[in-house]
Order: sequence, then structure tokens, then C-alpha cells
Amino acid sequence: MRKNYKNLMILVLIITLLVPIGCARDEEPVPQPQQPEEPRVELPAVEDMILSAESWQEEYPMIYESFIRTARMQDNKVEDTGLGGLMPISYLDKYPEIKVLYEGIGFSKEYYIARGHYYSLEDVINTSRPKPGASCLGCKTADFEKLWVENGQDLFRLDFYETSQKVENAISCYNCHRNEPEGGIQITAPHFAEGVRKLDQEPKPGTMACAQCHVEYYFDGNTGEIVLPWDNGLGVDEIESYFDEIDFADWIHPRTGTPLIKVQHPEFETYTGSVHDRMGVSCADCHMPRVVEEGEEYLSHWAKSPLKTVTESCLDCHGGEPQALIDRTQAIQQEVKDMTGEVGMMLVDLIEGFAELLDQRKLEDEEVIRELRSLHRKAQYRWDFIFVENSTGFHNAAKARETLNRAKEYAQQALDIIAEYQ
Ligand code: HEC
Ligand code: HEC
Ligand code: HEC
Ligand code: HEC
Repeated sequence: MRKNYKNLMILVLIITLLVPIGCARDEEPVPQPQQPEEPRVELPAVEDMILSAESWQEEYPMIYESFIRTARMQDNKVEDTGLGGLMPISYLDKYPEIKVLYEGIGFSKEYYIARGHYYSLEDVINTSRPKPGASCLGCKTADFEKLWVENGQDLFRLDFYETSQKVENAISCYNCHRNEPEGGIQITAPHFAEGVRKLDQEPKPGTMACAQCHVEYYFDGNTGEIVLPWDNGLGVDEIESYFDEIDFADWIHPRTGTPLIKVQHPEFETYTGSVHDRMGVSCADCHMPRVVEEGEEYLSHWAKSPLKTVTESCLDCHGGEPQALIDRTQAIQQEVKDMTGEVGMMLVDLIEGFAELLDQRKLEDEEVIRELRSLHRKAQYRWDFIFVENSTGFHNAAKARETLNRAKEYAQQALDIIAEYQ
């Protein structure tokens, strides 16, 4: 009897989850779930959701302990001094050019490097960048699904600060497993459950777990909902074409009037189609390898730079000395970092030059202005895609090079036009 009741509750919950999607678009009929015959997961009732990581400490001590290492930096030591890092390093000090590129948006005032999962909630609450609503919690807390069940579509519009007061957990086991860590990966992020339907193929579990959050997204202007812009595909051009089709801009550059796209953290999109992806390596294979500690083997849950576990993460395939592979990886990163820097400086020249022409009324031909804005948008979008992607090109060196080369071409075309009017 109790079991039947539980199943019924699950059904009711699944229905409550589906209905709000229909309500948001008023008059439209409630959309039918695409694969009703295979509900893969049993959603626990709100009061049964196991949201804190500590709840699993006793059952999985090694995994729990490794998970908590995502907090490392308490002794105030910088974990990675090179291109990654767990200290709250400000990108604005490191890359002053972004003050010009991101002018008119919060990122030009405050932009810290990402830290470990342990800090996800703390860091989102502490940034002073304005937050449009509770959607910002979507990738920061294990409590998000609970909030979603409780509030439905209204959640996305709730006040960020008020809602974050009710949130108790940062990212935890629940985000990837719900109540069943032994049962593989379960998708808990509502936007990803929607987004994954747009893909030709479901990614491997160890990639899907991370793609819930490490992706490009935007907030729907009407509903505040988190949307993954994958309708045309995962490529740089396909995502751009989607944004162009819906006439989307995150903001207008205050001095050039260009409607710009702010890219977020497209790790999954970048990684897709890379050498390693084609070989079937998942995000977790590199970032959370199986390790042996104190004679015990377990799946590390310390999501961190794989360069700390090269032997476990990479050498089964690559062989050789860890340092040789680290050098090879960092050579790619250095190359991509240099290219990104070069394109960034071209964009500064583009923005300054374009703004000056407008300011001094040397350029008043609307068609040329439109053309320059279009080139600026295309170039900066591609630069941003690689700049904000967290592997500094490693996840897909070929894609990073190609994207930056295209950015350079667009920026150069704009600079040539600007030069004609100066
Ligand atoms: C960011 C996502 C993520 C989080 C958070 C997470 N896990 Fe996992 N977990 C994984 C992935 C990926 C696997 C491998 C699953 C697969 O390949 O099917 C896994 C596997 C496991 C396994 C099976 C281990 C094995 O040897 O096969 C257990 C047990 C587990 N996790 C427990 C936990 C516990 C406990 C927590 C919280 C302290 C946690 N997980 C948090 C992603 C996560
Ligand atoms: C629920 C959302 C979520 C999921 C799922 C998730 N991440 Fe994250 N991840 C984040 C957020 C948010 C941050 C940044 C936290 C901060 O800066 O406070 C982050 C940070 C990281 C970092 C540290 C970045 C740095 O520069 O130090 C790594 C590494 C990472 N994630 C890897 C993974 C991997 C691998 C997976 C899948 C196994 C995964 N993440 C799944 C949200 C998520
Ligand atoms: C073939 C191994 C490999 C795979 C697969 C992989 N990564 Fe990475 N990832 C790396 C390396 C190497 C770095 C660079 C680390 C560094 O600079 O210290 C990195 C960096 C990162 C970072 C920044 C970490 C930091 O400390 O700065 C994040 C976040 C991340 N990867 C997430 C992902 C996600 C999400 C996926 C899957 C879509 C993925 N990775 C797939 C190897 C991998
Ligand atoms: C499943 C096997 C496998 C794993 C695991 C793996 N690699 Fe690879 N990797 C390959 C193959 C195959 C290639 C392509 C041949 C080559 O360039 O060596 C490659 C290519 C590379 C390249 C050159 C990429 C480019 O775009 O030019 C680097 C750097 C690299 N791997 C680093 C790593 C690192 C670091 C890890 C672990 C974090 C890792 N690999 C894990 C198989 C693997």
C-alpha cells in the first residue's frame, strides 16, 4: 500500500513538473512529453529529497572526502598558479582589455575565475553583479529541483536574494544522482532535461552529468527560464544562428550600439566533437578518475584540473611521463591564450575606433554602421566563446583555433572599414 502511494506521488510530481511548462505559454495546448513510455527516474517527494552531501558521508567515506576537496584553498594556497586556479582571481586584473569589451555589463566591473563546486552557492551569492532572478541558482545548488517542484515556472522570476536565503546546500550528490548514488547519473537540471531533447544523441553519463551546468545558456526574456540555445546544433556557428534568428542580445555596447552575446561557459559544446570525445572519453573520465588511496580504489569526486591526476586520467592511453603530457597540454593552452589575447586587443581597437567615428560624426551611413555592428557582434561572440571556456583551448584545440581565426577575420574586416573613415 505504502509503495503504491509512493508511486502515485511520483506520478503526481512528474505531472506537476510538466504542467508549468505549458502554463507559461498561456493559450497553447499543454505539450506532451516526448518519450512518456520511458520515465527514467523516480523523482523523490520533496520531503524525501536527500540534498546534503554529508548525508552520504558514512556510506561513501572516500567519495565524500574526495568531493569535499573541491573546497581546497582554505589554507589560502593557490592550487594552480598557471592557467587554472582556485583562488578568487579577478579576470579584470589579469585581462584589463575586457573592461572595454564587456563595457555596459556587470562582467566589466567584477569577474572572478571559477572555483570548486564547494563554493558554488557562496560565490553566486557574493558576486555583486545584478541577478535577474532565482534562475541564477539553477547551477549552484542541490536545492534547485526542490524549489522547482515547489514553485513551478514562477521560480525563475522569484527574487534572487530572497530565494537564496532558503537554499541550504551548494552543489551536492543530489545534482548528479538524486537519492541513488549507486544508480548512475540522473539529470536534475530542468533546463538540461529540455536541452538534451534537442541533441541527436544523448551524451555518455559521465559527460551528461557535467553538461547540466557547464554549457552556454540564456534567460528567456518573458519567463526568466534558463534555455540552452541548441535548436540548430552545438557548433559555434549553429548557436550564433539560433541567437540571430530570435534577435537575441545580452546587452548593447554603450559606445558602439552593437547588440552583443555574452557567452557563459561552453565546456560541453566545445568538447563535443573533439579528439577525445570521438574516442568516447567522458568529462568525468579525465576530471574524476578512479584512483587508489590508502590501498583502496574508488572513483574520485574531486572535480578539478586533470593535470593533478595525469597518471590516472591520461596515461592508460598516452603512456610516457606525466610531465611530457602536461607540457603538451600547456603548449596548446599557451597558444590559445596568446591567440585570444591578440583577438582581444583587435576588438579593443575595433570598439575604440568605431566609437570615435560615431562620436565625431565621421560615420553616419546607417548601412555601414549596421555592417560594422554585425562584424563586431560576430567577432566578439567568437572571442568570448573561447575566452570564457574553462580549459583554455585544451578541450578542443582544433575548434578553438578555428573559432579564433574566424574572430580575427571578422575583426580585421571591421578594422579595414574603420580605417577608411578615419
Ligand atoms: C557533478 C556530478 C556528480 C556529483 C555532484 C556526485 N557524483 Fe557520484 N558520480 C558521478 C559520475 C559521473 C559517476 C560515474 C557514473 C557513470 O559513469 O555511470 C559517479 C559515480 C558514483 C558512484 C559509483 C562509484 C563507482 O565506483 O562506480 C557512487 C557511489 C557515487 N557516485 C556517489 C556520490 C556521492 C556520495 C556524492 C556526493 C558526496 C556524489 N556521488 C556526487 C557524478 C557525480
Ligand atoms: C549543478 C551544476 C554543476 C554540475 C552538475 C557540474 N558543475 Fe562544475 N562547476 C559548477 C559551478 C557553478 C562552478 C564554479 C563554482 C564557483 O566558482 O564557485 C564549477 C566549477 C567546476 C570546476 C572548477 C573550475 C575551476 O576553474 O577551478 C571544475 C573542474 C568542474 N566544475 C568540473 C565539473 C565536472 C567534471 C562535472 C561533471 C562530473 C561538473 N563540473 C558538474 C557547476 C556544476
Ligand atoms: C581528455 C581529458 C578531458 C576531458 C574529457 C574533459 N576535460 Fe575538462 N579539462 C581537461 C584539462 C587538461 C583541463 C585544463 C586544466 C588546467 O589548465 O589545469 C581542463 C579544464 C577544465 C575546466 C577548468 C578547470 C580548472 O581547474 O581550471 C573545467 C570546468 C572543465 N575542464 C570541465 C570539463 C567538462 C564539463 C568536460 C566535458 C564536457 C570536460 N572538462 C572534459 C581535460 C579534460
Ligand atoms: C581514451 C584514450 C585517451 C585518454 C584517456 C586521453 N587521451 Fe589524449 N589523446 C588520445 C588520442 C588517441 C589522441 C590523438 C593522437 C595524439 O595526438 O596523440 C589524443 C590527443 C591528445 C592531445 C593532442 C590534442 C590536440 O588537439 O592536438 C593532448 C594534448 C592530449 N591528448 C592530452 C591528454 C590529457 C592531458 C589527458 C588526460 C587528462 C588525455 N589526453 C587523455 C587519447 C586519449
